[in-house]
Amino acid sequence: MLTGGKVGLRARHEDDIPILRTELYDDVVNGSRSEAGPWKPITPGSKDPRLVVDDTKETSVQFSVVELEGGSLVGTATFWGIDTHNRAAHIGLGLLPAARGKGYGKDVVATLCHYGFVVRGFHRMQIETLADNVAMLRAAESNGFVREGVLRSSAWVLGEFLDEVVLGLLAKDWNPKT
Ligand SMILES: CC(C)(COP(=O)(O)OP(=O)(O)OC[C@H]1O[C@@H](n2cnc3c(N)ncnc32)[C@H](O)[C@@H]1OP(=O)(O)O)[C@@H](O)C(=O)NCCC(=O)NCCS
Repeated sequence: MLTGGKVGLRARHEDDIPILRTELYDDVVNGSRSEAGPWKPITPGSKDPRLVVDDTKETSVQFSVVELEGGSLVGTATFWGIDTHNRAAHIGLGLLPAARGKGYGKDVVATLCHYGFVVRGFHRMQIETLADNVAMLRAAESNGFVREGVLRSSAWVLGEFLDEVVLGLLAKDWNPKT
């Protein structure tokens, strides 16, 4: 398990799946804001790739996020679009509603940076988020990510097009203590 200050990132366990499905992916607003495609319900027992991890896939790594104190599940964290030639990857995270606003998101990003830069030797990490997602922007920027651009009206979200912000962090600029 990877450990941060408040959270741990571990493998997906079978009993995480119903919790993530009902508390995270059944939420139409959260799903519409966090996923690239349209929200759809996930049938219990389905092998939806957001829930059931394929360990043989080289282009992504999926973690379950747990509280270090007590070990309870608080969300998911993902490396996706891994590009081993350019040594770059994208990151994403989603916390259960009760776990938001407690500093876990910031700690998950810090722990993902450790995994990306130290464990994997990446050169660059990237985050895309909606321009109004203040908590995600702050969690990224407080770990050293900088805004590199705005994708205007790029995301169809619940009846309107919203802007997305692209943030990047290079290994040479990463300060694990930020
Ligand atoms: C986005 C998310 C991962 C952030 O994690 P979090 O644990 O809630 O955020 P933290 O408590 O670590 O706070 C990070 C920063 O955002 C601020 N913040 C937290 N919630 C906020 C809110 N609702 N509004 C404004 N600022 C907020 C904190 O004050 C903190 O700022 P600081 O660095 O200046 O101290 C989490 O809220 C979440 O899972 N949201 C739903 C899914 C989502 O949006 N995922 C990202 C898709 S790209």
